[in-house]
Amino acid sequence: MLIRKNYNQIGSSEITEESIYYQRRDLMKLAASAVALAGAPLFAALSFEREKANRGLELTSYDQITTYNNFYEFSTDKEAPARLAKNFKPKAWTLSIGGEVQKKVTLDIDQLLKLIPAQERIYRFRCVEGWSMVVPWVGIPLASVLKHVGLTSKSKFVEFQTLFDPKQFPAQGQTFGTISFPYREGLRIDEAMNPLTLLAVGLYGKELLPQNGAPIRLVVPWKYGFKSIKSIVSITLHESQTRSTWNEMAPKEYGFFANVNPSVDHPRWSQARERPLGRFFKQDTLMFNGYGKEVAHMYKNVDLRKFF
Ligand code: MTE
Repeated sequence: MLIRKNYNQIGSSEITEESIYYQRRDLMKLAASAVALAGAPLFAALSFEREKANRGLELTSYDQITTYNNFYEFSTDKEAPARLAKNFKPKAWTLSIGGEVQKKVTLDIDQLLKLIPAQERIYRFRCVEGWSMVVPWVGIPLASVLKHVGLTSKSKFVEFQTLFDPKQFPAQGQTFGTISFPYREGLRIDEAMNPLTLLAVGLYGKELLPQNGAPIRLVVPWKYGFKSIKSIVSITLHESQTRSTWNEMAPKEYGFFANVNPSVDHPRWSQARERPLGRFFKQDTLMFNGYGKEVAHMYKNVDLRKFF
């Protein structure tokens, strides 16, 4: 898979309020045909330069995104995943989709990308800890995947699970630890079907590195980063609310919804502001991380203080 993209070619007029998240460039579709013709390697590395866009959306550098990570299967230390993930093998990976669906499937990543061409989406990303970044993801809308397997009247929640393999994820084999594995996350079906919800396979036009959740991870830009589960092996549809690792571990601190909300503080710190990676000064956190127009309707009748 070859993703051709030069970030210098994005005019700031292209990154307008709406198109920030809808840069529907069928890069991978184009790339797939190039691969078929030329047998080119997956995601040929390209060089990129920082893009300054309007609305203060400045891409976080590739280096920052790939060296400051939360990935507890490797370590709780943010610098460690990049180092410890070097031998991780995201190849020959399959994703199973089952539960309350019309057609259960197990696909490898190439099969998935043939079914649904990948697009680029530039999203803000806000961690519950108070840091943030802006990432040019490459991925496919989760809604397209769910439409492919077909929903039923019982498809009310979606559960995602990370690979359990202590040989590859050293912290999964430890008898003591902070969270229980495999890591699990969940979304309500309308959240999962929202056009913003992405299954990412790359960033900056390159295949995801293991520390960022290779080969496939969730990205839900209006929710705190812990909802964006990495290295997913299964997606299961349920009739009732699904499990969520952080919510189960500390329900008073991490809600199931986890919508970015500057007016609802974490019990131990304020959520009003955030520090963009690589910058010294903090900035205000936006309600729904700035995606209110796209998502606020889903929470019209929800008390966001109670269901945080
Ligand atoms: N997924 C798994 N499987 N394990 C994790 O520890 N950490 C979460 C989320 N997904 C995590 C995970 C948290 S807390 C955050 S903030 C983001 O991944 C970080 O993503 P990044 O390292 O790509 O920035």
